Order: sequence, then C-alpha cells, then structure tokens
Amino acid sequence: MEQQVIISKDLRAEVSDAIARVQPDRLFVLTDVNTRDLCWPRLKAYLGDAAASLITIPATDEAKNLDSLTSVWTALGEGGATRHSMLINLGGGMITDLGGFAASTFKRGIAYINIPTTLLAMVDASVGGKTGINFRGLKNEIGVFNAAGTVILDTQFLHTLDAQNLRSGYAEMLKHALISDDAMLCRHLAFDIEHPDLAILQQMVGESVAVKERIVTEDPHEHGIRKALNLGHTAGHAFESLAMEEHRTVLHGYAVAWGLVCELYLSATRCGFPSTRLHQVAQFVKETYGQFTITCKQYDRLYELMTHDKKNTAGVINFTLLGGVGDILINQHASKDDIFEMLDYYRES
Ligand code: GLY
Repeated sequence: MEQQVIISKDLRAEVSDAIARVQPDRLFVLTDVNTRDLCWPRLKAYLGDAAASLITIPATDEAKNLDSLTSVWTALGEGGATRHSMLINLGGGMITDLGGFAASTFKRGIAYINIPTTLLAMVDASVGGKTGINFRGLKNEIGVFNAAGTVILDTQFLHTLDAQNLRSGYAEMLKHALISDDAMLCRHLAFDIEHPDLAILQQMVGESVAVKERIVTEDPHEHGIRKALNLGHTAGHAFESLAMEEHRTVLHGYAVAWGLVCELYLSATRCGFPSTRLHQVAQFVKETYGQFTITCKQYDRLYELMTHDKKNTAGVINFTLLGGVGDILINQHASKDDIFEMLDYYRES
C-alpha cells in the first residue's frame, strides 16, 4: 500500500479516515512515557468511540531495543491483536521506528499509522518506511523497510517540544532544502527557528517532507538516489559516535548540521558547490547549533569512525556531495588528506 502523508488540518477527521480505510478489528496506540502524558490525551479525545489499548515504553534511544520490542509484541498478543488489528505510533522517531517494526513483524505484519510528535520524526523518521531497533550497540541494526499506511503531520504537537529538539529536526529540513533548490534553501536560512511561527513551520514541514517523499518513491530501498538523504550524515554520524564515546550529549540533528558544514566544504572544494552558499550555511549552523569542539588529535578517530559507517561499500567512505544546491552527487569518495582538510575547515569556520 502506498504511503499517504497528510499535512494536518483537522486531526480528528484525519485519524478517523485513516482508521476507516483499514477498518481494524482492534486498535492499539504506542507511546513513550512523555507522549503518553503530553500527546495521548489529545488523540484519545479525537478517537471518540473507537476503543484503543494504550501501550507505553520508555522514552530514550537506549530503549529502542529488543526488550521494548518484546513488550510491544506481548501487549499486542495479550490485547488480542489479530492480523486485522492496527497500531498507531504516537511519538518521536524512536516510537515510529520501533512501533513500525513491531507492526511489520507481528503476525507477519499488521496495519500501522504514524503520528510523529517531534520535528525530527515529522520530516524524517516517520516517512519513507525505515523501521527497526538498535542491537548489540549498533544503531538501527535490525529492521525492515515497510512504510506506515498513513502519516499525519501536525505541528500543534510541537508546542510541547523543547528548543533543542526543534533545532535538531530543523537540521534535516535544511538538508532537504540543500538537496532541493536555492529558493527553498534561502527560505530556510531566513526562518526564525528560535521563535517559530508554527503555522509557517507546518507549511515548511509539508514542503520538506515532499522532498523526501519524491526521493523515496524513486528509490525506496536506498540503492541509488535515496542516498541523497545521507548528505551531512557521514561526518555527522562520526561526530555523534565520538560524542557518545566521550560521554558528551549531542542530539542527532546537531551532529547532522555540523556534518553538513563539513560535507559542503568537500562539495565546494571538489565538486564546484558555490562558496557563498557554503559560508552562509556554515554561519547559520554556527549561530543555531554552536560548535562541536574537536582538536586535531581526534582526526584519526573521526576518520576511523567514518570508515566504519554502514553506508560504505568495501571499506571505502561513501559521501553524498553537491555540485550546487539541488545537484546531488552520490557515491563520492575522499582521501584521508581531504577529510583532514575538511575537519580543519570545520574547526576554523
Ligand atoms: N533518514 C534517511 C532516510 O530515510 O533514508
């Protein structure tokens, strides 16, 4: 079934339509402990007579594991779920990833819908069918591609989101603008994410998700052009892993924003990406996300982390770069010297 992405105007009607399309025999809602308190009361009021069983798991990425997955399968089983039941995932990317995987595997797959409640989940995790859990210390190690039947995007849920998580999601929106077009990029660089107008943000979320949908429709299983969505993530994941090793707290989107600056530098020096745009993005990232401080003593470790990225083939570091805004170049390689020079630029920018 093709994924339907709805930019919400009337959540009550949209949820009711999404359920009516499937006509499940039983309805389950998955939340984490935060969205149970902050978001579930609103959804519950909108479900009306439809009786739903609530399943709640812990909120952090550490809980995106086999134990939580087992508890969701168990709750579905004990709650009498059949192949004709439906799961609604109400939460951030952890909930949509884990809930999507639970639904995709329970009795070989039941219907599910995503109602993401963080900006990161709205513009990235909830759309495009990647589901899964972390396993043996590796992020998203186990999972399947299986898109939610319906995704409903409602920025009203962002009222409860803190500024850091808002910025984190915005980095993925910046990425979508970079792989799309110059006008979209300029709008994103000019938007005030520190004091966001949620009505305008809702429109921008719609535009952002449309970029992702276009790419995922062309290449759902990431054999080619879907790699465009990895822009900023090769360097970004290395920053994220280094931060974890050093017990520094870094949100995913912050690491992606820093990774974008690095990879746009490579794009400018190797592929002709305009240096004015590089400097504008670097300035925006510095003002919005600050800087992840590194010294040259950490370059070797960052390089090593990049060589372990699961997106690589045959141990060669695989970058997605840009020849210009919207001019996507996948499967690009860089030497160790290029990467060290990129890190020099990042430190000095
Ligand atoms: N988060 C990148 C993708 O969905 O492919």
